Amino acid sequence: IPVDDFDLVIFGGTGDLARRKILPGLYRRFCAGQMPAEARIIGAARSDFGTPEFRDMVRDAIHEFSEKNDCDEQKIEQFLAQLHYVTIDVMGEGGWSELKDLMRDGIVKAFYFSVAPKLFGAIAERLHLKGISDQDSRIVVEKPFGRDLETAKALNADLAAHFDETQIYRIDHYLGKETVQNLMAVRFGNILFEPLWNAQYIDHIQITVAETVGVGGRGEYYDRAGAMRDMVQNHLMQLLCLIAMEPPSKYDPDAVRDEKLKVIRALEPIAPHHIVRGQYDATDTEQSYREDAGDPKSRTESYIALRCMIANWRWANTPIYIRTGKKLKARASEIAVVFKDTPHSIFGEEAGKHANVLRIRLQPNEGMTLQVTIKEPGPGGMRLVDVPLDMSFADALGDEDDVPDAYERLIMDVIRGNQTLFMRGDEVEAAWAWTDPLINGWTARNDVPKLYDVGSAGPDDAALMLKRENRVWREIKE
Ligand code: BG6
Repeated sequence: IPVDDFDLVIFGGTGDLARRKILPGLYRRFCAGQMPAEARIIGAARSDFGTPEFRDMVRDAIHEFSEKNDCDEQKIEQFLAQLHYVTIDVMGEGGWSELKDLMRDGIVKAFYFSVAPKLFGAIAERLHLKGISDQDSRIVVEKPFGRDLETAKALNADLAAHFDETQIYRIDHYLGKETVQNLMAVRFGNILFEPLWNAQYIDHIQITVAETVGVGGRGEYYDRAGAMRDMVQNHLMQLLCLIAMEPPSKYDPDAVRDEKLKVIRALEPIAPHHIVRGQYDATDTEQSYREDAGDPKSRTESYIALRCMIANWRWANTPIYIRTGKKLKARASEIAVVFKDTPHSIFGEEAGKHANVLRIRLQPNEGMTLQVTIKEPGPGGMRLVDVPLDMSFADALGDEDDVPDAYERLIMDVIRGNQTLFMRGDEVEAAWAWTDPLINGWTARNDVPKLYDVGSAGPDDAALMLKRENRVWREIKE
């Protein structure tokens, strides 16, 4: 079903994100029949070229970045016909009246700020003062949303000066991932899990986002951010919220975001021995982080593991271990909910310990597995084994390629005016309020990240942190 007619302006329309994700994503929605025939996509950037050159650039981008084999030349040309371009000086005066002339009234107007955060305020102000936006317009902003609480507050204030919170869509692309939304469906669409979803039955939870890529090419940005700012403050925090929040009363933007906010506010500060920071080290064939970052003395972490505690009734004394890192042994993101042992074993000691584990796999091979204990088949007596009850989403729900990617879904949500999968201003600030003291703490301690080999599971200290508590990390594997 097509969404309502819209004009979407992409500031930074010739930039990396626009070429890699936004424009190919819009093209796929076009192919899926979701884009109305009158809708316009307007690239706005500094580059001094016209609509034909912009269309050429987008054609190349679709060929280069459309992962799925959906490049139908005729469709591409139809899509390109809906694209326009204006050269704009976002800090100055040039281009704004051309933009205004291009835009239509009485339809959804959305403005995607795919530019450095320092430009957010200037663009918001000009859109408003020049009468280009109206009370129904939506603005979309990307991470990094600040680098600490103070800068995030300033950004929020810059946007709030001209736009209402209901008009601001802060993207965290993890919320657009199919399995991440499935987390809510699984928790709140089944009677099975929720009664067990608490400290009484759950021993601990592990959240892993392991990447094989390094920071090559974005070393300069990354070295000022590190894994904590780049991944934990946003993506992992969102996963943690969805796993730990109370059931919202309905699936509605503020009901969901209110519950997530309560989780963030209930996070306890973390003691230094529950924080492990790592940095990838060179091997015979691979460069070290410091070489990639171009700073031989860098103390930025490319890996981090934390033991998080949520101070509320549901989660008292139940650790949520989170870890994320670059250049690890496999690309694998998953959440593992490890249940407690049975209170008493009727099978005796030799049956061993068996715990139920619910694994929610985000990528690759999206799916869910529930590890259950059964009798080992055969005449060998009552021996127990763990087997997976498996549900791969691809098998159950058809072709993975049909699932829209995170950006596609989120951009369509903007047009539909649904903020459920976007971060609210107070949520982002609360996340920084928790993050800041941790970063300030290790900076003040002059903490040096522990080295780990490229292609390993991360620094040994992360394994030790769990070992001290008689637990082990799940294996990182595809
Ligand atoms: C981005 C980070 O937000 O997310 C990157 O800046 C990271 O460093 C990326 O690689 C991971 O996203 P995905 O969708 O590939 O898991």
